[in-house]
Amino acid sequence: MKKVIKNGTIVTATDTYQADVLIENGKISCIGQNLAVGGAEVIDAKGRYIFPGGIDPHTHLEMPFGGTVSKDDFETGTIAAAFGGTTTVIDFCLTNKGEPLKNAIQTWHAKSKDKAVIDYGFHLMIGEMNEDVLEELPVVMDEEGITSFKVFMAYKNVFQADDGTLFRTLVAAKELGGLVMVHAENGDVIEYLINEALEKGNTDPIYHALTRPPEVEGEATGRAAQLTGLANSQLYVVHVSCAEAVEKITEARRKGYDVWGETCPQYLVLDQTYLEKPDFEGAKYVWSPPLREKWHQDVLWNALKNGDLQTLGSDQCSFDFNGQKDLGKGDFTKIPNGGPIIEDRVSILFSEGVKKGRITLNQFVDIMSTRNAKLFGLYPQKGTIAVGTDADLVVFDPNVERTISANTHHMAADYNPFEGIQVTGEAVTVLSRGEFVIRDKQFVGTLGQGQYLKRAKYQSKPTETGKSQELTI
Ligand code: URP
Ligand code: ZN
Ligand code: ZN
Ligand code: ZN
Repeated sequence: MKKVIKNGTIVTATDTYQADVLIENGKISCIGQNLAVGGAEVIDAKGRYIFPGGIDPHTHLEMPFGGTVSKDDFETGTIAAAFGGTTTVIDFCLTNKGEPLKNAIQTWHAKSKDKAVIDYGFHLMIGEMNEDVLEELPVVMDEEGITSFKVFMAYKNVFQADDGTLFRTLVAAKELGGLVMVHAENGDVIEYLINEALEKGNTDPIYHALTRPPEVEGEATGRAAQLTGLANSQLYVVHVSCAEAVEKITEARRKGYDVWGETCPQYLVLDQTYLEKPDFEGAKYVWSPPLREKWHQDVLWNALKNGDLQTLGSDQCSFDFNGQKDLGKGDFTKIPNGGPIIEDRVSILFSEGVKKGRITLNQFVDIMSTRNAKLFGLYPQKGTIAVGTDADLVVFDPNVERTISANTHHMAADYNPFEGIQVTGEAVTVLSRGEFVIRDKQFVGTLGQGQYLKRAKYQSKPTETGKSQELTI
């Protein structure tokens, strides 16, 4: 059935204007003033913004990690994402050394099919680079539309790859048109610092942060950026948490390297003192990289504002406090890393960013949606509001005030790291390809309505000066 969103204010990465949006066959078919739309179902957006659906470029749904499996799966995770105003997620498909890539991809299809309520794609982890992998990569790109690869520089003896693997992945990505993503922390140095802490009997959650200082993130970020320049390739640094890493990304971009950086809501709002909460509660705030001293938050916000960082991912990887996080009682290295963020990513950016004057409304749309679509081969099908694009739309009330809480969130995890934080703004109605997923704050979607997205190859590239182009696109 035809739908029309009336009386709202459309916001894209570049424009803010009042118009009606007509939706037919899952696409936006017309945008204009006072559209005559006999027979269309009317969605009244008076006093509300209409945003392109959020694109979360970084999730780990139902992922085996740290001796357990992340709590939110493609069902609860995508429902919660939709409640928060996100209509696309790109999840990390983990691979196993020595096994064909296609096995891992099949495993991820099996996890997501018949569950996801919004559209989704996969990034592929590269744990080793050899002839078999090199042979399979072009097939994966063409047949599966997986055009971004993730290399972990940390998690020694689990996911960590060596510099040779990173470099060969960068070279291959350059040739094939892929984007290389890195978890940038120096895993070898972390291992040393962890052993030193444990030998001294330092086992509390705070030592998670103290054994992963900003220098190990800055060093790995700089190394990955240099190798990218050497390979003349392209790099996306996930979950940037600190000034040291921002500095390396900024420096690389100034040199004209094709390097991009993502941060996450937790690093913008929470700080290292949360790891010191009593009764093991600090475990709720264990991420890698860890939460930092508060002053880093200003650096991250400024970087988003200036374009030195370009995107916001949730790094959704949730674990219950009771029964999962507590695996690390008495040994911080056994605390599963990650948290439930997928639902609050857009709200936190809007409330802490736009409402507090740190970024503009159009930058907000770019950071939470448009830029992600462009970088990950989904633009313009996703990530904007224009005739012919998917009707992935969020009707957003910019004035409602609410308090984030596990009592009201839709994620499966038993706590919310933003518990008690006041935010302004909330998604009211969310459409995925023209179908209601959330209607007047109620879930009305169907499991499996989300479609798998085959993504295009990597295209965008900054100009020589890197940053200036970001301001003009
Ligand atoms: O602590 C985190 N970030 N958990 C998820 C896995 C990863 O490293 O992104
Ligand atoms: Zn028209
Ligand atoms: Zn990571
Ligand atoms: Zn992650």
